[in-house]
Amino acid sequence: MEITNNLAPEFNIKGLFKAFGSNRVLQGVSLDIAQGELVAIVGGSGCGKTVLLNHILGQVEADQGDVLVADHGRDLAPMVDLSQLGTAEMDQLHTHWGVVFQANALFSGSVLDNIHLWLDEIKHLDDAQILDIAKRSLTSVVLPTNDEFLGTDVNDLSGGMAKRLAVARALSMSPNVIFYDEPTTGLDPTSAGQIQDLILTTHEQGNRGGQSLTTLIITHDKDLLIRLKPRTIMLHDGQIFFDGPFKDFAKSISPIIRPYFDRMPVLHTGS
Ligand SMILES: Nc1ncnc2c1ncn2[C@@H]1O[C@H](COP(=O)(O)OP(=O)(O)O)[C@@H](O)[C@H]1O
Ligand SMILES: [Mg+2]
Repeated sequence: MEITNNLAPEFNIKGLFKAFGSNRVLQGVSLDIAQGELVAIVGGSGCGKTVLLNHILGQVEADQGDVLVADHGRDLAPMVDLSQLGTAEMDQLHTHWGVVFQANALFSGSVLDNIHLWLDEIKHLDDAQILDIAKRSLTSVVLPTNDEFLGTDVNDLSGGMAKRLAVARALSMSPNVIFYDEPTTGLDPTSAGQIQDLILTTHEQGNRGGQSLTTLIITHDKDLLIRLKPRTIMLHDGQIFFDGPFKDFAKSISPIIRPYFDRMPVLHTGS
């Protein structure tokens, strides 16, 4: 765990409340994340991890509270309040973020189509530039770059390969921040281990512009925590119950943390 006190902020989340009817999911979540941090958000199924992520992505409006995010588009820009942004500004902000959704959210079509779309529509690159970036992104997630693979229909990829493609697609945007929602859930143990390693090396390598990457992982995978040793944040009863280094989380004797940690699914048997 790095000391992050003097790093620039990435997110300042202040007093978030969110209910769906009588289901009070977030009940005062405040959280600061600095640029370059590797952070995991954990907590039982249905505790609000994805809801929190959706607030950070600006896809859900809070009942109360604020999400301020760093503006990577401009040097020395102040933090931006998501609730104040129009669609165009939000789109601009999103060009600096890569998201690997829980279900990958690949588009129907080929491997190359999936990397092509955002680079074309958001970054306005030409086909030759896109092909070059596609090959480099695929290489960094250890996928093939030959024409046959580029033309493969994504429905024909295995779960592990589809997940890697989703990571490659996120990386192709040279993001400053990368979000993963349950990146190893549903994968076989070998693929899960490979994705864990990929998340770590991706974080350590930073983005293609040579800047550090902020990595936020929502996970329910104990082995991922053991392997990556992230700053660990546990949501419980709508609030942050724990926030600290993984090693402290793992040895906690809290009656909330201990049983949760002991029962966390082990997706990967380790090697
Ligand atoms: N759009 C929605 N409408 C109603 N309830 C929702 C919605 N999104 C999430 N919820 C509820 O909020 C709670 C937290 O969900 P979620 O954040 O997806 O959990 P998890 O921690 O497993 O990611 C669950 O009870 C879920 O049913
Ligand atoms: Mg979820």
